[in-house]
Amino acid sequence: MDCVEAADEGADALQAGRPIVLVVDDEIGILTAIRRCLRSIPAEVVTAESAGEAIAFLHDNPVAVVVSDHMMPGMTGLELLALVRQNWPRTLGIMMTASGDIQLAADAVNRRLVRAFLTKPWTVDALRVAIREALEAWQAAGPDAGEGLRNGLAEAVRQQATRAVLALARAMDARDRYTRNHSERVAGLAVALGRAFMLPPQTLEALRVGGLLHDVGKIGVGDAVLLKPARLSAEEFEAIRRHPGTGASIVEPLGLAEEVVAVIRQHHENHDGTGYPDGLAGDQIHLLARLVHVVDAYEAMRANRVYRTAREPEWIRAELLRCRGTQFEPHLLDLFLAELEAGRIDAALVEADGVALGLQPALSSPPSSPAG
Ligand SMILES: [Fe+2]
Repeated sequence: MDCVEAADEGADALQAGRPIVLVVDDEIGILTAIRRCLRSIPAEVVTAESAGEAIAFLHDNPVAVVVSDHMMPGMTGLELLALVRQNWPRTLGIMMTASGDIQLAADAVNRRLVRAFLTKPWTVDALRVAIREALEAWQAAGPDAGEGLRNGLAEAVRQQATRAVLALARAMDARDRYTRNHSERVAGLAVALGRAFMLPPQTLEALRVGGLLHDVGKIGVGDAVLLKPARLSAEEFEAIRRHPGTGASIVEPLGLAEEVVAVIRQHHENHDGTGYPDGLAGDQIHLLARLVHVVDAYEAMRANRVYRTAREPEWIRAELLRCRGTQFEPHLLDLFLAELEAGRIDAALVEADGVALGLQPALSSPPSSPAG
C-alpha cells in the first residue's frame, strides 16, 4: 500500500468522524493480518509500509494511535515514535517488538514514547486490548492533550540554550574582575529599557539573551589587550573592534534568534554611521542593538574599569547627552534618560546584581509583560 492510498483512507476516516489508528510495518503480510484483526475496533485502521509513509500521512491527518513495528529499513519504530511524540504530541504510540528486546522497551518507556508494548508473537486479543485502551485514553485526553508537552519541550530547549549562553557570558566576564557581572547588568538594563519601549515579552527575552551575550566575542581578544591598564594602541584597538564580528561567529552554532545575533554584531554601531564593525547608521542598526548600545555605554561608565574608576552620575548624564544624535539615537536616549530619572534604571541594576549572585531565577522564567 502506498502513501496516497493511506491518505485517501484517512480522508474517509475524517468524514466518518472516527479516530484513526495508523499501523506501520514493512511486512505487507503482517499489515494485512492486522487489518483483519482490527475490524471490530471503533476506529479507521490505516496502514503504512514504512516510517516515511507514516510521517507523510501524519502531516495531513489527525491520527489517534500509531502502532509501529521496530525493525524497519530507513527509520526504526522507536525513531518514528520519537518524531510522533515531538510533532504530534496528542497521538499515542504502541510498539511491536521482538521478544527479549528489554533495552529497547526500557528506552522507549524512559522517553515516554509509547503507551504500550506488544511482544512478538502477539495475540489478536492483546493487540485489540492495547488499541482500545489507547483510543479511550486519546478520547479522554481531549483535543488540547499534548500542548503542555509541546510547550514543555520548547521551554526545556529554550532554557538549555539560555543556560549555555549564560555560561559563555560568565566565562567571559570572569576574565576581568572589573567587568564581572557586566553582561548580566547590560541584560537587565536592556530589558528595563525595552519595557519602557513597550516591547512584547518574546522580544524582551531576545533582548535579555542579546544583552547577556553582546560581548561574547571578547573571548577572542587577548588578556594583554583586554586587561591593559592604559590607553590602547591603534593596533590593540583594532583587536577590540573585531569582537562584535567574532561574537556573532561564536554563537552561530547555537541557532539563536536573528535579533540576538544582531545585538551581538551591531552593539557598537553608532547612529551617525561612525561605529563598527559595519558602519551601519540609523535604522540600519537593529532596534535591539541600538538599545543595548545605550545601556552598555551607561553600564561601562558607571562601573570601575581596569583603566579608570567609575564616573559620577552627572558626568555620565552629560556624556550621554553630548553623544545624543551621533553615537546614540536621540529618541532612544531620551527614553533612557527619562527612565534613569525615574529610578527604574538603577533599580534594574540592583535586580541584575541579584540575578548574578543567584538570588533570583531570571533564566528559569521569561520576563514579565511590558505592562508588568
Ligand atoms: Fe562590546
